Amino acid sequence: MQSPPSPTCSETNDFLPLSQLRVEECGSERAIGKLIQELKSYIVTDIPRMRSTVSFYVCYLLCLCLGMACVMCVCYWNAHWRGGFAWDGSALQFNWHPVLMVTGLVVLYGNGAVLYRVPLTWGENKLSWKLLHAGVMLLAMVLSVLGLCAVFGNHNHNHIPNLYSLHSWVGICTTALFTTQWVAGLVGFLLPCSPMPFRKLLKPVHVWLGASILLLSIVSCISGINEKLFFALKANTNGTKPYAMLPPEAVLGNSLGVLIVAFGLVVLKILSNPNWQRPEPRSNEATYRPLLQEDT
Ligand code: HEM
Repeated sequence: MQSPPSPTCSETNDFLPLSQLRVEECGSERAIGKLIQELKSYIVTDIPRMRSTVSFYVCYLLCLCLGMACVMCVCYWNAHWRGGFAWDGSALQFNWHPVLMVTGLVVLYGNGAVLYRVPLTWGENKLSWKLLHAGVMLLAMVLSVLGLCAVFGNHNHNHIPNLYSLHSWVGICTTALFTTQWVAGLVGFLLPCSPMPFRKLLKPVHVWLGASILLLSIVSCISGINEKLFFALKANTNGTKPYAMLPPEAVLGNSLGVLIVAFGLVVLKILSNPNWQRPEPRSNEATYRPLLQEDT
């Protein structure tokens, strides 16, 4: 009896090592074709997707590290160079202001904003992540309101006028916008009774305003740090060198500003990359459903 020829798999694939295998060695021709198709689709779609996921996590790690560095830096500045903390109207009460603003309106806010971009949160149940997003933003808002109470209390206690500086104008507008954004998000995306056209209209505004508030927070912080360093580091006061001589405290304050800007840039990079957006339901499902109707 004549034995069948021993064809190779080269008709279906001519660049993988598998092409050198004989059919009887690697299964039927059809099975090999299927395997090769799977390998091709893996190479074409899964490898770029994996690369994108890895670069996301690198950025996310950077975001977490920069955020922690900002919080440590602002705490160290006020604890070590500005005498620590109290809630008695004194300068020590003021020290809560930068700490709470940077922690709330920059670091917590930025982390809350990128929460949906984490691929781990793309599972079926969006509800819990929406609640977490709203919760982190609420905490950020509470901290920033406390930060404002610290500075207003300090000004009132020492008969310093309120809201005279450019920093305070930008800062108060930022906090007001953030509060409005949070309330609108709550009403639009959480309440089941909110009308669909309102939700559809709100989503792009919410996304745009979210990034704008972060930018405004960074502007507020930079101007606040600069102002504080000018106030605190005057020549011949408390034995400190003037700001222009770049004493160690000025180096720390400037570095805090650089860290805040770097954190903001990483967050904005994460928010602006379309590959890192949470996949939305396609075609006719693509309407934005309120939180309590979703994934319950
Ligand atoms: C998102 C962040 C921030 C916001 C929204 C913000 C907002 C404000 C507001 C509304 C005031 C006016 C308080 C009053 O008039 O009684 C103020 C005062 C002040 N803030 Fe900030 N602030 C922020 C971050 C910072 C940071 C990081 C510093 C750094 C030390 C800082 C330093 C100051 C100083 C020195 C004052 C008193 C002088 C003035 O009224 O301009 N702020 N801030």
